[in-house]
Amino acid sequence: MIPAEKIIVALDTNDADKLQSLFHALKGEKIWVKIGMEVFFAFGPDVIFMAKDLGFKIFLDLKLHDIPNTVSQGLKSLSRLNVDMMNIHAAGGKEMMLKSYDALSSLQNRPLLIAVTQLTSTTQEQMNLEQRIPGKIEESVLHFAKLAHECKLDGVVSSPLEVKAIKNLLGKKFLTVTPGIRPAGKDLNDQKRVTTPKEALDLGTDYMVIGRPITGAADPKAALHEILKGK
Ligand code: C5P
Repeated sequence: MIPAEKIIVALDTNDADKLQSLFHALKGEKIWVKIGMEVFFAFGPDVIFMAKDLGFKIFLDLKLHDIPNTVSQGLKSLSRLNVDMMNIHAAGGKEMMLKSYDALSSLQNRPLLIAVTQLTSTTQEQMNLEQRIPGKIEESVLHFAKLAHECKLDGVVSSPLEVKAIKNLLGKKFLTVTPGIRPAGKDLNDQKRVTTPKEALDLGTDYMVIGRPITGAADPKAALHEILKGK
């Protein structure tokens, strides 16, 4: 069995009817929802209030990346929405991450602050030739995770396949939020390095981000319940 509190359903749509039908299908479940750029830029803060009214915990996935002052003040503004998790790019640097932590640390019930390391869409070649970072992607992911840990962030977004290395290096309490989850036998879509929900759980992931296997299903609630059974 997979605890519902570990599932973050990625609501990636800019279609108001689709969003409403997903909210309707999933209401009452003790899950998180991930509100990313597509949803937030289309519907604004109202979507957060709607999700909160339905009792969902909220991961506001806006991946902030700018100068330290802009990011930390941006987070402060977003914190008025009372979401449960937000994220920033580790590539913004230590000063940016430290200021971000400081901006939120005095809040009552502060949201979890998670770092994005290397995007899973970044290839080895892109990282080496475009970003001019030598070495393997996994090394860069661990390096960024270590910087985020030093800046008191709560964890990182990573592939489930990187969870073990991250936990070994930084300890069990450092959270891992992992997309790239596919129930056995389901369409991989554009995800490449995937695990099943059960494998991700066994690898020690804290939160599983799952989108299309639930949101693209004819019956999203039934698809969620299949996942909760550990399929
Ligand atoms: O539909 P699917 O389960 O592939 O959705 C995964 C979600 O996680 C999407 O919102 C995607 O943008 C996000 N994500 C990802 N890989 C990352 C970071 C975020 O797939 N490294």
